[in-house]
Amino acid sequence: MNERGKFGSKLGIVLATAGSAVGLGNIWRFPYMTGQNGGAAFLLLYIGCILLLGVPGMISEFIVGRHGQANAATAYDKLSGGRPWKLVGYLGILTSTIILGFYAVVAGWCCEYLFASLAGRTLGDADYINNYFATFSTNLWRPMLWGVAFIVLTHLVVIRGIRNGIERASKWLMPILFILLLVLVVASCSLPNAMEGVRFLLMPDFSKIDSSTVFEALGQAFFSLSLGTACLCTYASYFSHDTNLLKSASQIALVDTMIAILAGLMIFPAAFSAGVRPDSGPELIFLTLPNVFQQVFGGVPVVAYIVSIMFYALLVFAALTSTISMHEIGTAFFTEELKLPRKKSAWIITTVASVLCVLCAWSVGAFDGLQLFGIPLMGFCDQLTANFMLPLGGMLACLFVGWYIPRQTVWAEFTNDGTKNVPFHRIFLFAVRYLCPICILIIFLHQLGIL
Ligand code: PHE
Repeated sequence: MNERGKFGSKLGIVLATAGSAVGLGNIWRFPYMTGQNGGAAFLLLYIGCILLLGVPGMISEFIVGRHGQANAATAYDKLSGGRPWKLVGYLGILTSTIILGFYAVVAGWCCEYLFASLAGRTLGDADYINNYFATFSTNLWRPMLWGVAFIVLTHLVVIRGIRNGIERASKWLMPILFILLLVLVVASCSLPNAMEGVRFLLMPDFSKIDSSTVFEALGQAFFSLSLGTACLCTYASYFSHDTNLLKSASQIALVDTMIAILAGLMIFPAAFSAGVRPDSGPELIFLTLPNVFQQVFGGVPVVAYIVSIMFYALLVFAALTSTISMHEIGTAFFTEELKLPRKKSAWIITTVASVLCVLCAWSVGAFDGLQLFGIPLMGFCDQLTANFMLPLGGMLACLFVGWYIPRQTVWAEFTNDGTKNVPFHRIFLFAVRYLCPICILIIFLHQLGIL
């Protein structure tokens, strides 16, 4: 397809992949998962999962994508000579569409907060801030309209192919997000009682670790790296021949982890200071951040106003670079595999994700009876994808690369034909053949109570 090779520069594609990884997973999901799983001990497990399982998994998806030069399902199909490995690609497409559905709800919340900040409506005391979220999220229309609008915005970017523009914008906006996060970390740490939050994030209490903490950390690591949806595989199909896969995976993992830790350092001190419980769940950042803006910058209202607008705008942008990648997986698949026009393919994904988004938005708001297995639909989709589908997809990618495709191909892709990373090749093979699949399997079996 002509879209292939759309990404402008070498830096551009790596940035786009980093843009997929860095998003609400880091700034919204990481703090709330850490809050619910006891803090620092969870952070350590998360970092362990990123290093031992995440990086090899990312490289595996990169290898399949770059070698296959096609959307995920077709790439698996090509490399396996028509065996059912194609299903891994299908699994990725399904997973990313479900993620798009509930992720858009949170992206919509960010849009609401952006506009509310513009109108100066988010500043007030802690009670006001709590009520604001409760009133907004239980409204029948607003959360769902924002969510669907966000998916349509993603759709427009995907079909217009203006990703080049987005890439160029990322070069500026991502570093600004980073700097703003640093500013907010300092601001949050200067609040009264903030050190308790820092301790919560950085001083591990190992008694809090149990099998479900490990399970959640694994899910969070994969979610944050966009690993297991075949998204990395689809993006790697646009990589150039001399992209260094090990280096790119390590850089992306490093940036991604740093942003998550900064987000934690921004949220927990402020949460402890404002008396917001760290295990408040998905609304954690929306209950906490307005307090930072208010208390730290409130003395100079213009600064509070500007900082809050900038923050939500950057968050919306970071979310968009991630939703584009989720959308792209299915769109590329329908276009290449079913030979549908790109626009039509994009509409299929947009429609399915929008329906899911509306139901998810209602399940945590207007219709809280919308549950599956006793969990609101939104939480169900989140847990199903992050904790099961992503690790499963990642594990299958490792097994495929480790055991199925010819060693020569893996070697050529991993070392760029013997020019790079040769000493790490054996370690990589060990990781994808044994370490990753066995660890993920053990974590699964343990969680299911079988082991
Ligand atoms: N990694 C993204 C984030 O952290 C979410 C994502 C998951 C993107 C899966 C694509 C695929 O926000």
